[in-house]
Amino acid sequence: MRRLDAYDLREATEAAARAAYDWIGRGDKAQGDAAAIAAMAEALERLAPQGRIVIGEGPEEETNQLYHGQRFGDPAQPVLWDIAADPIEGTSFLAKGMTNAMACVAIAPAGTLFDPGAAFYMEKFAAPAAARGQIDPEAPVADKLATLARLLDKPVEDITVYVLEKPRHRELVARIHAAGARVALYPAGDVGGAVAAALPHSGIDALMGTGGCVEGILSATAIRGIGGEFMARIDPQLATERRMVLAAGMDTKRWWNLDELVRSDEVIFTATGITTGLVLDGVERSGNSDRTQTLMIGGSGAPRQMLTSWHPRKD
Ligand code: FBP
Repeated sequence: MRRLDAYDLREATEAAARAAYDWIGRGDKAQGDAAAIAAMAEALERLAPQGRIVIGEGPEEETNQLYHGQRFGDPAQPVLWDIAADPIEGTSFLAKGMTNAMACVAIAPAGTLFDPGAAFYMEKFAAPAAARGQIDPEAPVADKLATLARLLDKPVEDITVYVLEKPRHRELVARIHAAGARVALYPAGDVGGAVAAALPHSGIDALMGTGGCVEGILSATAIRGIGGEFMARIDPQLATERRMVLAAGMDTKRWWNLDELVRSDEVIFTATGITTGLVLDGVERSGNSDRTQTLMIGGSGAPRQMLTSWHPRKD
């Protein structure tokens, strides 16, 4: 059986991004999501990665595609891969025709991706490789930023932190400002923010704040491949979620480091832009072709690549 690589896997995010394109700016999150989910699931069926979804669209009772535990490949063969899938990261961006929507998928050897169980939200910290293992996630914001500034060899005034613009982050933003740093506030999309924090010359030096677990695990796999820092802590925001997390005995105080969130270097991550954003150009349709841009991260020292493709359209 041939082993999948990033070039194979990008078919899943390119298919989702092209399917989502039709729904950019139409105010309909559900239809855009459904089209992208179906396209990614169909591509994964074709690619047959011999794996199972660890984190995706939700439990089987709630969705019939990309549900937790869904198998791809020959069910008679052992599971070789954990799969994390988000066909549209930023469905509200997509529906509003805003920047930064993208399709993401990641695979890692079976049993190596952190399973957040009933948790929906996690607090996250992402930064460039120089910060790996150097920052205490429990330290006050000002201390974290001072350490980061020292590691990046620039004044704290030149540090920019990507934060989702949410009421829950008002205090965090005030602390970042009080420390002298800048924020880059976005209404949605923290995979883009985390990846940008790890990539050099992106204009983003760190990501802080609470967002989705799917997005957290996808960010962790991408950063494991890029090289960078990523840590996370289960941080339930919804009453039902809080109850389930407590009932499951999950520790909401513990920060998980990158090696615990993704327990292998053998990760493959791909993301294809839907709308143009911080990291990727969106889908561009002209004449009878779709142009896509895909970030391909191959793990284990493989170079990361940015691929521009022109896909002939059938209709
Ligand atoms: P969408 O639901 O629009 O796809 O938004 C994605 C996202 O912004 C993630 O990037 C982020 O992790 C999460 O939602 C935050 O959730 P919430 O908007 O509920 O705070």
